[in-house]
Amino acid sequence: MLDRKVKIKEIRDLGAGNHLLVITSPEQARLVRPGQFVMLKCVEDTGGNPLLRRPFTIFNIHRNARSGKPAGLELLVKEAGAGTRRLVMARPGQVLDCLGPQGQGFHLPPDLSSRVATACLVAGGVGIAPLLLLAESLLALRIRPILFYGGATAADLVLRESFERLGIDIIYCTEDASHGERGLVTGPLEQFLRIHPRKDTRLYACGPWGMMRGVHELAVGYELQCEVSLEARMGCGLGACLGCVVASEASEGRSYPLVCQDGPVMNSRLVRWDIAPI
Ligand SMILES: Cc1cc2nc3c(=O)[nH]c(=O)nc-3n(C[C@H](O)[C@H](O)[C@H](O)COP(=O)(O)OP(=O)(O)OC[C@H]3O[C@@H](n4cnc5c(N)ncnc54)[C@H](O)[C@@H]3O)c2cc1C
Ligand code: FES
Repeated sequence: MLDRKVKIKEIRDLGAGNHLLVITSPEQARLVRPGQFVMLKCVEDTGGNPLLRRPFTIFNIHRNARSGKPAGLELLVKEAGAGTRRLVMARPGQVLDCLGPQGQGFHLPPDLSSRVATACLVAGGVGIAPLLLLAESLLALRIRPILFYGGATAADLVLRESFERLGIDIIYCTEDASHGERGLVTGPLEQFLRIHPRKDTRLYACGPWGMMRGVHELAVGYELQCEVSLEARMGCGLGACLGCVVASEASEGRSYPLVCQDGPVMNSRLVRWDIAPI
């Protein structure tokens, strides 16, 4: 984990309050594993600004156009409050404090393909953020990823082209039927699992709590393994403030694991889904 001053290279407006933020940071980019995040200060440090750093998943590694070497990080930022609003108003060239890469990413041992043939990647809105690097890693391991990507409306389904470029199967869902199937993303996921009842399918989910709980329940029902990328309010991102706890079902280890240290990616069976993090 590194604490670096990073320069904003580009901020691209993706619509519906979403932005792609590209920061230059080759050292941090070289260390990233799928599912990890950074703690980014949302304003330039101009004299003790009180805004804490905010957690953002690493969407992609930005590569040097000529050499292909890691040059920085791409983050998907959705405006939510004071910090993210300030962040998306920043200008290229501004310098921010960036801590990371942080946390436990997806479990991707080299022999995963001996147990997993198909991976269902399930995203709700900005929950798409950890799934691009995951999809690329699964392809490299010769595991077939299928993306189930849902949002309230078509404008929420950002960065679709990054996944379409990989040539993987994608099922889009919107609540208003403006793109893909109508309804919640768990609908077509369940249909897929019913039609393909195979034990070598694994589920990966990131999105709103209710959606991840739904995916977890399908995993239990179909006796599949499932990893979820959790969100909690974070003060430090370092395991010091205990602000990011989530209640656990585990009989061993912490009964309140820290999302910043023990996660954000966790086995869905370790999470107590009846108690959402604050
Ligand atoms: C591990 C992790 C990865 C994340 N990755 C991304 C990402 O890739 N892209 C992205 O846009 N956002 C991501 N988030 C959420 C993001 O950190 C929050 O939206 C951000 O901290 C809000 O800061 P703010 O100052 O704008 O809003 P605040 O003024 O702090 O809060 C505004 C609203 O957002 C809610 N909120 C604040 N923090 C969180 C949080 N951690 N989780 C859920 N709701 C929150 C508050 O409850 C409030 O309703 C991630 C969070 C975590 C924990
Ligand atoms: S954010 Fe401080 S302990 Fe996790």
